[in-house]
Order: sequence, then structure tokens, then C-alpha cells
Amino acid sequence: MAIEVIGAGLGRTGTSSFCEALDILGYKCHHMKRCLTDPTNQSSKRFYNAFLNKSEANWDEVYEGYTAAADWTAAHFYKDLLARYPNAKVILTERPFEDWYKSMKNTIYPVIRNGPKHQPGHPHYEFRELNRQIILDGYIEDDEKFLDEELMHKYYDNHIKQVKEVVPANQLYVFKLGEGWEGLCEFLGKSVPEEPYPNTNSTAHFQQRFMKKSNETPTDPVPELNVGDA
Ligand code: A3P
Repeated sequence: MAIEVIGAGLGRTGTSSFCEALDILGYKCHHMKRCLTDPTNQSSKRFYNAFLNKSEANWDEVYEGYTAAADWTAAHFYKDLLARYPNAKVILTERPFEDWYKSMKNTIYPVIRNGPKHQPGHPHYEFRELNRQIILDGYIEDDEKFLDEELMHKYYDNHIKQVKEVVPANQLYVFKLGEGWEGLCEFLGKSVPEEPYPNTNSTAHFQQRFMKKSNETPTDPVPELNVGDA
């Protein structure tokens, strides 16, 4: 199996919906959450090792069983994946910076910042470390950086600019969050499905699942994620 579609957009740009959409179109899309569907934890280990040593990574093994990639991992690995799968199509999911930053602040930021830091050997050590280190290149845990809105705006814009520079124009589609199937399906050469484009993982949904209502303290998302969620 080869990766045919690479989602290069950062998390909180609609990557869960995008991954679901690709599954509906017949791909098998990897989202970071799917690492947790492997009870042996080998999947998290493979992704974490690839993150630690990208130049040595065997991408066929890392993405074994998948034909598409999305979320923070794909946004981080997109250049390596494109080198390995030069004919892959790249989709950049995108939304206005202000919406993205607000969404990050209300979801991933508190969960990662207040989440437990496991020791090696813990079943969720690699998944947790991958999250902490790959999300915004670790800025998610660095308040001086993450809470500097100007800096984060530059980071966000720079990611978009880089993707547009690196990916050949005929292999790239920019998917604006909120648009539906048409442009995406045309770009991928697929028929438009009858069902609506997915809409999942809103801030409200995320908070319901991962944060205690009383004091906004996040719970550890790892044990709560199950195969159905992912
Ligand atoms: P909010 O946090 O602003 O609610 P991701 O899956 O990458 O974490 O992104 C989730 C964000 O994308 C959420 O934003 C969610 O509401 C938004 N989203 C997902 N699918 C959408 C759709 N079809 N139309 C509009 N927004 C969508």
C-alpha cells in the first residue's frame, strides 16, 4: 500500500472531518488518534521513532495499512512523505488564523499542558511524547511561545507558505474549512458522495470528551479514546 493523499494542514483545521471524508471516498486515512486503536502500542512507537529519526524512517512500515495521512503527524512529515510517495496528492486544510488559534487555546493547549507526563514503559508514553513534541514543534508546551499570538500567527502563516512552496502546484489543493465535497472530489478524481461532508471534533465536542466541566481541567484523553472515536 502506498500513501496516495497527504493532508498537510495543522491540527484544528478540520483534520478529523477530512480524514473521515477520505475514508468515505475509499481511502484509509491515518489520523494520530488511530495510533490508539493498536492495543500493542506498536503504532505509537513507530510514529514516535519516525519523529525522532525522520531520515531513517521506513514510511511504508510507519503508515502500514493506510493510503492517506492527516493530522499533526502528516503536517510534520509531509515533505518526507512526498519524497517517498512523489505522486501523492497533497491537501492543505486551512482556516483563518484567529479561528484556529482560539480553537487551539480551548482544546489541545490545556489538555497537553495539564496532561500527565508518562515515564518510558507506560503504555501511552510514546503517544503522549509524540503529542507533546510534534504539536507545533513542541511550542504547545512552551507558554512563552504559544501565548505569544503574534509569534503563533507567524508560525501558522509560515506553515501554509512552506507547503505552497514545497508542493508542486498541480499536486496541491487548498481546502478551506467549511467547504464541502465538490472541489476536493474534483481534485481527487472522485464522485461526490450523497452524504454530507463530515463535521466532527468541534471545540464543544472536544471539551465534552476531554475536559471536566467544573474547573476546565482536562482529563487525560488517552484512556478515553476508544476504537469508535478514532
Ligand atoms: P472549532 O474548534 O472551532 O469548533 P481538527 O479535527 O483538525 O481537530 O479540527 C476541528 C475543528 O474543525 C473544529 O473547529 C471543528 O468544528 C471544525 N470543523 C470540522 N469539520 C468541519 C466542517 N465540515 N465545517 C466547518 N468546521 C468544521
